Amino acid sequence: MHLFSLIGGVGHHQGAWRRPNSRAEGAMTLDYYSDIAALAERGKIDALLMADGLSVNGPRLASASFPHVEPMTMLSALAARTSRIGLVGSVSTTFSEPYNVARQFATLDHISAGRAAWNIVTSGHGELNFGDASLPSHSDRYERADEYLEVVTALWDSWESDAIVLDRANGVYADAAKVHRIDHVGKHFKVEGPLNVPRSPQGRPVLVQAGSSATGRTFAAKHAEVVFTAQQTLAGCQDFYSDIKARVRAEGRDPEKVKVFPGVHPLVGSTEAEALRMEDELRHLIRMDTGMTWLSKQLGGIDISGLDPSKPVPEELLPAVDTVQERRSRYEIFRQLAVEEKYSINRLIEAEVMSAGHLVVVGAPEQIADRFAKWVAEGGADGFMLLPSYLPEGLELIVDGIIPELRRRGLFRSDYTGTTLRDHLGLDPLTGSDRG
Ligand SMILES: Cc1cc2nc3c(=O)[nH]c(=O)nc-3n(C[C@H](O)[C@H](O)[C@H](O)COP(=O)(O)O)c2cc1C
Repeated sequence: MHLFSLIGGVGHHQGAWRRPNSRAEGAMTLDYYSDIAALAERGKIDALLMADGLSVNGPRLASASFPHVEPMTMLSALAARTSRIGLVGSVSTTFSEPYNVARQFATLDHISAGRAAWNIVTSGHGELNFGDASLPSHSDRYERADEYLEVVTALWDSWESDAIVLDRANGVYADAAKVHRIDHVGKHFKVEGPLNVPRSPQGRPVLVQAGSSATGRTFAAKHAEVVFTAQQTLAGCQDFYSDIKARVRAEGRDPEKVKVFPGVHPLVGSTEAEALRMEDELRHLIRMDTGMTWLSKQLGGIDISGLDPSKPVPEELLPAVDTVQERRSRYEIFRQLAVEEKYSINRLIEAEVMSAGHLVVVGAPEQIADRFAKWVAEGGADGFMLLPSYLPEGLELIVDGIIPELRRRGLFRSDYTGTTLRDHLGLDPLTGSDRG
């Protein structure tokens, strides 16, 4: 089983910063992030994820911790303070250029000695900071992302792995015949290449993606090596898992080499009662007034301010799924909770603030380990994207509670056996000869 962990901010629960012993004051410091990374590395977790978004939501800012340190900067610093753990950064294909991003990840892969991964995101917001009046449509964003990936991977491959000669006697630095222009000309990009960074230790940094919509899944099947997903049930995970693996097979790729990790928000205590107590404590940190604004955004921007929060949202107010241009698949989860599960508005706010629609598992370490084991055994997951509610203690409870339980069952490593993220994930290194 593989485990990634989110390390952004004070925790995945939006009110976690309010806990009396949270380290909210230091949450922008390198020491804070280093402590969390060291903890994750002590647990032999495969990789850390630094999530990202490219705008500030005013009402949200008023009550939620604001974790958005720039991922590539922080991961570069963490590369120096860690030695084995993988470093995954979210970077948007909608609001960046492929040459810069190819360079950044190749460099991160070099300075971390083969631990870099890119969480490819298409962004559901940020347009007002990048000169556009409106967000490009969901399908346009994926179309650009597809071409973007073509360019980035060609740039990473533009240096064959033995291109650097370093012949000091004859003054030959590189074999120019092994460094190639890419001459890409497409609808969105015109890039000559080659990259100005030589081929990186993993050949290519690992590609991660979380496409959940049909377009997103097609994209993931074509490009990703790790696929994240937000699901509420084992059945939902099994459907997603088998669909992704089938799509990967249809692309002519090996399904074993594409890992599916549902996001899970574990609330662990030494006993179930303690975990439930913690859940209750966190529930009291939710500000319902600002929660209402966030929920409205999650529901496609509808006005819910005049509704009775103890009742479900009337179905006729909810927009059709394919009209939502932002985080469409996350909207689907909230729509389903509202319509099928008849969640009240208050309960939907809790689901948003607590875990942003990810599955919350509450219990003692053995109970959570049972759940993880079942999901992997029954074809729902190859591992999990852990979203600790509060940091660093929430991760400590995972590392010292859940992980030892998984080890006892022979389901998780006791130590790293390799040095690169590809080693941890059982993915093949890519060499210069893999240029296609
Ligand atoms: C575990 C996980 C982490 C994610 N991290 C980010 C992120 O850091 N930044 C971002 O803009 N979107 C992030 N997303 C959202 C996805 O990129 C994607 O937009 C979402 O899953 C909806 O899929 P769709 O675009 O195919 O509808 C994440 C999703 C998941 C499940």
